[in-house]
Amino acid sequence: MCGIFAYTGSKKAIPILVDGLTSLEYRGYDSAGIFTPADGVFKAVGPVVELRKLLPENANGTSGIAHTRWATHGAPTAENAHPHADQNEILYLVHNGIVENYKELKEELLKAGHTFKSQTDTEVLAHLLGVERGTASSMDEALESTLQKVRGTYGLAVIEKAAPSTIYAAAMGSPIAIGVGENEMCIGSDATAILRVTKQIIYLEDGEFAKITPQNYEIKTLDRKITTRAPEEIEWDADTIKKNGFDHYMLKEIMEAPEVLENSARGRLLLTEGRANLGGLAEHEKELQNIKRLVIVACGSAYYAGVYGKYLIEEYAGIPVEVAIGSEFRYRAHIPEEGAALLAISQSGETADTLASIKEAKRRGILARGIVNVVGSTIARETDLGVYKHAGPEVGVASTKAFLSQMEVLALLALYLGRQRHLSVERAIELGKAIAELPTQAAEILSKHEEVKVIAEKYKDVRDMLYIGRKYNFAGAYEGALKLKEVSYIHAEGYGAGEMKHGPIAMIDPLFPTLAIVPDDAVFEKTISNIEEIKARKGPVIAIATTGNTQIKELADDVLWIPKAIEPMAAILAIIPMQLLAYYVGVAKGYNVDRPRNLAKSVTVE
Ligand code: M6R
Repeated sequence: MCGIFAYTGSKKAIPILVDGLTSLEYRGYDSAGIFTPADGVFKAVGPVVELRKLLPENANGTSGIAHTRWATHGAPTAENAHPHADQNEILYLVHNGIVENYKELKEELLKAGHTFKSQTDTEVLAHLLGVERGTASSMDEALESTLQKVRGTYGLAVIEKAAPSTIYAAAMGSPIAIGVGENEMCIGSDATAILRVTKQIIYLEDGEFAKITPQNYEIKTLDRKITTRAPEEIEWDADTIKKNGFDHYMLKEIMEAPEVLENSARGRLLLTEGRANLGGLAEHEKELQNIKRLVIVACGSAYYAGVYGKYLIEEYAGIPVEVAIGSEFRYRAHIPEEGAALLAISQSGETADTLASIKEAKRRGILARGIVNVVGSTIARETDLGVYKHAGPEVGVASTKAFLSQMEVLALLALYLGRQRHLSVERAIELGKAIAELPTQAAEILSKHEEVKVIAEKYKDVRDMLYIGRKYNFAGAYEGALKLKEVSYIHAEGYGAGEMKHGPIAMIDPLFPTLAIVPDDAVFEKTISNIEEIKARKGPVIAIATTGNTQIKELADDVLWIPKAIEPMAAILAIIPMQLLAYYVGVAKGYNVDRPRNLAKSVTVE
C-alpha cells in the first residue's frame, strides 16, 4: 500500500500536494516524492516532513503528482521513491501495486539501451509508457498500449512535461479516485487526500483510466470507450476514511485478510507445476538445497507463526526445524552443525531481540534468512536472503494481517523447499491450490463477522479463557490467546489440546471458557475428546470448526465456522475468527484496541 495524490488547478500545487501526502501517510511512510512540471522533482527518504525540507518556497507550479511509498521492489531510498521518469524524462509517473512482469519488460528495455536509476517496477512502467508515447498520437493511446503489456496491479497518475495541466490516472486492482472541484481537479489513491480539495469524488473501476484538466474530467475504458459517471459526495471525515470506514485500524486490518492473502502469494505460485517462485531466494538455490536443519527465530506473534511453520516445513520439506524465541536464542549454547540455517520472522524488521539473534547466528557463520514485512528494514538488510510479505503497513499494535501473511509465506516456503527435495508434484499442487483459495475463504469467514460479535458480547466479562489446538492449530491456540490478552486484558492462555489433562483442566469450571480450534483434520477426534473432558466439568466451549460438522454443533456452546480446507490452510483460516473475537471483546470492554496499554508496535529495545 502506498499513497498517490495529484492536483491540477490555479493554486500553487506544492503546498496542496504536501498536505494531501501527509493525509495519506498511513498508507506508507518510508519515502516520498513530488513532481511538478514547473518546479521539478523532489524525493526524500522517510516521512513527508523530510520531503518538506527539500521543497522550494518560491515554487510556482499549479499542477503536479506526489507519492508516499511503502516499499515493495527495492529498498526505501531516494532513488526508489516515486515519481519516476521515462528514459527521456518527458513524463513522470507515480504508481501503487505490483507489476508482475516487470523483469521481462525491463530486459527488453535494457536491450533497447534504456538505463534505470532505481530498482523499482514503477520505473520500468514509466520507461515503457515513454516508449509508447513516442509512437502514439495521444497519451490515451500510449496508456492503452502500455497497460495492455502490463501484468499485475496498478493505480497510477501520469503527467507530461509538455502538457503540464493535464494529468492521467488508471486503476487495476489498486484504488484510484478523481476529485472534481471548481476549476481544480485532483487524483487520489483514496478519499483522504481528495477531501483536502473537494468533497466530489468519482472512483475509477478496474480497467478504466481518466484524464483531468482544471476544468474537465473524462473517464474511459482501456479500449477508449468513454464512460459517464457523476461525482458522489464524500460523507466521511478524514479519519474515518483512513480507517476505510471502520471504527479501528485493527478491524480494518483484519478485514484486509483476503487482499493480504492475495498479495503475499501474488506471482509466487506456479500452480500447474506445483512450485513456489520466491524471488528473494532464487539466487541462493544451491545454499537452500544444502540446508539440513532450520532454526526459526522470532518474537511474539511472529514466534507463533514460526511454530506453525515448523509443522509445515517438517511435513512438506522434511527439514528438521527448531523454533526459538528471539530473547532466548543468544543465551543458549549452540552446537556447531553443518547445514544449519536461521530464519528470522518479523513484521517490523526492527525487533531488537530477533535482530540480535541474527547477528549471533552470523557471527557463528550460519546462513541467515528473513521473512519480513517492512522492505529495507534492519532485519531485511541484516539477513543474507529473504522473502517479503507484501502485507502493507500494519498500524494496529496487535498484529493481525501481518500474522496471516507470515503463515502464508511460510506455506510458500515449505512448498519451495519441499520441491527442492522429495515433495511429490501431486501434493505440491494440492498445497498450491489450497493457498490460492485462501483469499476467497477468508472473505467468506469475514462476511459472518456479526456472528463473532454476538459471541464476544456473551463472553466479554469472563476473567480467564483457555485456547486449545493441536498439530497445525497448536500455534494458533497461543496466537488466539495472545490477541485476546493484548486488546481485552483478559487473562488468556494457549495450550496444546493434549496437554489439558496434564494440568490446565484443573482450572475448568462454569466460569472458565475454552476456545477449541477443531477443524476436520487428522486430530479432530482427539480434540473432540479434550472438549468432552471440558464439558464434563461444565466448562463453556467456543469451537472453531469446519462448516457442516454436526458433531461439534452438538457438543460446543458456540461455534465459529470456517470453510473446508486442507489441514495447514484450515489453521490459517482459524486465525481470522479469533482475531475478530479479540477485537469485539476489546471494543465491548471499551478499550482502545489500536493502542493497547503498555505495548509498542515495534519493540526496538532488548
Ligand atoms: O515486528 P515483529 O514481527 O518482529 O514483532 C514481534 C512482536 O513484538 C509482535 O508480534 C507482538 O507480539 C505483537 N504485539 C503481536 O500482536
